Amino acid sequence: MNEAGFNVVRLAEFAWSKMELRKGEYSFEWLDKAIETLSGKGIKAVLGTPTAAPPPWIIKAHPDILRVDGYGRRAPEGTRKNYCPNNPAYNQLSRRIAEAMVLHYKDNPNVVGWQVDNEFMGDPCYCKNCVDAFRDWLKAKYGSLEKLNEECGLTFWGQQYGEWDEIYPPRPPTTMQSPSLNLEWRRFTSDSWVKYQKMQVDVIRKYTSNQFVTHNFMGMYKGLDYFRLAEPLDLVCFDYYPKWGAQLDLAPLAMCHDIMRSLKKKPYWIMELQSGAVVSNQAPIPLPGQIRLWTHQSVARGADGVVYFRWRTCRFGAEEYWHGILDHDGVPRRRYAEVKKASKELQMITPYIERSTVKPEVAVTLVYDNIWAWDLEVPLGDRNYYGETSWEPTLDCFSALYARNILVDFVEPTFEDVGQYKVVFVPSLMLLCKRVEEKLRAYVKDGGTLIATPRTGAKNWNNNITEETLPGCLSDVFGTTIEEYTGLPGGEKAKLETVETELGKQNVHECRNWAEILAPQEARAVAYYKTGNYKGKPAVTSNSFGKGTAIYVGTFAERGFLLDLVDWLINQGKAKPVLPSVAGFEATERVSSEHRVIFALNHNNNEVSVPCNGTEFRDLLSSDNIKGCIDLSPFDVKILLKQV
Ligand code: GAL
Repeated sequence: MNEAGFNVVRLAEFAWSKMELRKGEYSFEWLDKAIETLSGKGIKAVLGTPTAAPPPWIIKAHPDILRVDGYGRRAPEGTRKNYCPNNPAYNQLSRRIAEAMVLHYKDNPNVVGWQVDNEFMGDPCYCKNCVDAFRDWLKAKYGSLEKLNEECGLTFWGQQYGEWDEIYPPRPPTTMQSPSLNLEWRRFTSDSWVKYQKMQVDVIRKYTSNQFVTHNFMGMYKGLDYFRLAEPLDLVCFDYYPKWGAQLDLAPLAMCHDIMRSLKKKPYWIMELQSGAVVSNQAPIPLPGQIRLWTHQSVARGADGVVYFRWRTCRFGAEEYWHGILDHDGVPRRRYAEVKKASKELQMITPYIERSTVKPEVAVTLVYDNIWAWDLEVPLGDRNYYGETSWEPTLDCFSALYARNILVDFVEPTFEDVGQYKVVFVPSLMLLCKRVEEKLRAYVKDGGTLIATPRTGAKNWNNNITEETLPGCLSDVFGTTIEEYTGLPGGEKAKLETVETELGKQNVHECRNWAEILAPQEARAVAYYKTGNYKGKPAVTSNSFGKGTAIYVGTFAERGFLLDLVDWLINQGKAKPVLPSVAGFEATERVSSEHRVIFALNHNNNEVSVPCNGTEFRDLLSSDNIKGCIDLSPFDVKILLKQV
């Protein structure tokens, strides 16, 4: 590890039974020894609280800590992630082990931080504690049953409650139950895990202020409100497993990083970077160069630390085929050499990227309540009423920006400002509350460019449909109403044609699943349908509102249209690519008060050459000066200082 340039490792995140084999009998000697050995080689430790894996003695003493699923079945013993976040005994036991660890390590200079639990999943639990807690949660939120009945529309099918203890969480199949109550259950479940984490964060902070507190997040995982989970932490960490199938899908991978950075709008860490095959036939071994590439990609998108998973492949246990840097025999081979190379390179660039971060001028809204509500829209498999999965509208916008090497922040408009961005994409923000409505209206009025896609504003915060004419409360901002909408079932594709005087191009593109016929009042049409009985009707409009522009896209337009829209933003000076686009090539920029560093990443297994467009760079790894073109061999990275 020392030879490969490691300076930090994570330890103990599942080691509860090794630290407390019997209740109250703590043994930290083995961990002390490991930390001491590592520190002798200049390697610090992040310690995980081990609560993701309850030891057998806890299950024996408190079988009711095991989560209950929607069909009344308890989670199995003998594994991890099987506990209920609202179980009082488990809360108490978790607090005790966290406290024992912190008391033991709070003054150890070789312990730099804490990871709480491991990869919270936000699984719902239907045990009695959770049912009671859900009732209390609703009581605190609504105050009275009258209000709950009214705001959740429980008159429908006569489901009004007369007593609080008549309330049960919606059990599967949930499609024929109240969409509002379903959404409240998702919110409650997320809050339960956030609260469980906060309990541990508080214990750690009670005793230490010079060790950071983090958790390892999972990119586009949507079981939890990640903004709320990140809130009490010093740092977000991301477990990055790019290779889950044979093909890498680059845009969602980059999007995961950008969400991670955006949760706290500051640099994050990778706590687990894939360094071998994960279950070989599903997630094959990274090709030569890829581990180094993903390491630099992580830093490129805003990570300040990279920890790999795992050091040496385990010879036993459920993950005996989940490979690490070393194989089962512990012999360093090419994956080790690659990590070593990447780590040397990171040391070389550190002076240039210290105190730097990624500073996007374009934002995309991300509201977890909306993602959940989107999932709840009369689901047909993983596709909803509109034929879309909940990430698709967001991914569409992100992918077009990513293809043009435009940097993106994700913003949560219920509590974050948007005023600093030149452009804000609002992908299908179906749920709108007053605060967000006012924020978006003011943003456009003050000169911002807002781009919204279907169903934005169609529902209120309680997941009930608005009684206003669609697109609802922001109709005046968009300067259009929606005359009629239709689904496009069976994979039918509609076509739309862009208006040259608006977008600078007259192109025909496909759109899918959903078509809204727009009836612009003040707005101008930007694209018209070319097909179907809505042929000739506006599909996309643009409105000047105050000092800004509000664009409404009334269909799920395929990539070509979104690329035209992004190119228009570029031509208008509203968005700026880091470098020109080349397929499979990714570019980002990190800026500090002293330096601008460009990362040029080739994800292709072939060479690419990217024009510099008149900018001169110094290659920080080779010290060469680069102008004209950046030439990259397969899976290569160049880290370039922008000469100013
Ligand atoms: C992660 C998890 C690790 C390990 C790893 C396997 O999701 O945090 O504990 O299971 O996957 O690749």
